[in-house]
Amino acid sequence: MSLYSPKFVNLCLIYELLLLLLLLLIVVDKGAQGVGVNYGLLGDNLPDPDAVVGLLKSRNITKVRIFEPNTEVLKALEGSNIEVVVGVRNEDLQLLASDPNSATAWVDTSVKPHVPAVKFRYVVAGNEVISGPLAKFVHGAMSNLDRALKGANISVPVSTAVSYDVMGVSYPPSNGSFSDTHLEVMGSIVSFLEQNGSPILANVYPYFTYVNDPENVHLDYVLGTSLDVVLTDGRLNYKMLIDAMLDAMYVALEKMGGTSVRIVVSESGWPSAGNGDFATIANAQTYVNNLIAHVSSGLGTPMRPGNVTETYVFALFNEDLKPAGTEQNFGLLYPNMTQVYPVKFFS
Ligand SMILES: *[C@@H]1O[C@H](CO)[C@@H](O)[C@H](O)[C@H]1NC(C)=O
Ligand SMILES: *[C@@H]1O[C@H](CO)[C@@H](O)[C@H](O)[C@H]1NC(C)=O
Ligand SMILES: *[C@@H]1O[C@H](CO)[C@@H](O)[C@H](O)[C@H]1NC(C)=O
Ligand SMILES: *[C@@H]1O[C@H](CO)[C@@H](O)[C@H](O)[C@H]1NC(C)=O
Ligand SMILES: *[C@@H]1O[C@H](CO)[C@@H](O)[C@H](O)[C@H]1NC(C)=O
Repeated sequence: MSLYSPKFVNLCLIYELLLLLLLLLIVVDKGAQGVGVNYGLLGDNLPDPDAVVGLLKSRNITKVRIFEPNTEVLKALEGSNIEVVVGVRNEDLQLLASDPNSATAWVDTSVKPHVPAVKFRYVVAGNEVISGPLAKFVHGAMSNLDRALKGANISVPVSTAVSYDVMGVSYPPSNGSFSDTHLEVMGSIVSFLEQNGSPILANVYPYFTYVNDPENVHLDYVLGTSLDVVLTDGRLNYKMLIDAMLDAMYVALEKMGGTSVRIVVSESGWPSAGNGDFATIANAQTYVNNLIAHVSSGLGTPMRPGNVTETYVFALFNEDLKPAGTEQNFGLLYPNMTQVYPVKFFS
């Protein structure tokens, strides 16, 4: 058969069309790939977990982070195919760090009964404790939990969720480093993560950078609406603050030997009320939708291009038992499950 025979040309055409279709399917299917939500329970008017899981499923939200191993929530998540990031309560860290048997007990009661019906993505030893007195228990709790999970033949990476406060220098990103006061603790955590091939979870809020210095930080850069490069750092160009924040943390991780430690954004969001002109529905809607589009685009950050940044939007609901002000107003949804503002993955 000649390469130029009509039959061969036809076959090529069909093949190309099929490839195109496949590509289209991949692009369409990508949607909000890699994006999950934080599901907090600090409200006295929240829907029951079955209804919440039903909502997540109906919206194809395939990842959720919960802050403690709440049995009712975990039961609701069984069989859902939703990947679950489960937190260890901060007040449990000390015991988990000092007593390996308590880590075994934790795995026995919090994880084992739900395996394999629940797809656990990470076990998170502590949320934002590195600046406080519990910091010294994080590494011990992580290694005891890791040993207990491996002992139970359950393969789930163990990590911790850090606040961006762990950073000492974040500008310019190429000069990023953890703060001197946290170097020792971060060093032990980072080497654990590097050894186990696990990511670090980081709560990254451009919102706070903005409200702390609105004179000097451009709102477009923070919200992700800047068409122009705002920051040039060596050969790298930044249009979005969150990318600069992540790259600064990548540099800090490298300085601690964590060259292959990936960052998972365990929280990012914007309050829709509670702080004047900063916390508006318009800003929240713009930030959250741009965040979802950006992290799921696969562009990555200038320093680590070409990957989806696994991200958990904060938060699913407005929670009325949190401190008054912005803290109660980070929700994408009101407790009656209607949207506070339109978010791509809910529409
Ligand atoms: C969820 O995904 C399914 C299958 O991929 C699709 O049929 C459905 O339209 C999606 N639903 C939404 C709300 O995107
Ligand atoms: C551990 O789990 C794997 C599957 O996840 C299974 O193939 C293996 O038999 C299990 N080993 C033990 C000792 O239970
Ligand atoms: C980088 O950070 C160090 C402190 O860690 C500081 O002394 C130095 O001036 C910074 N360099 C730049 C280019 O900002
Ligand atoms: C993307 O992520 C995967 C898995 O974490 C990693 O193996 C790969 O090197 C990353 N690619 C880039 C371009 O960073
Ligand atoms: C849901 O709750 C919000 C906030 O309280 C309220 O404004 C809205 O009208 C409610 N929607 C429905 C359908 O009940």
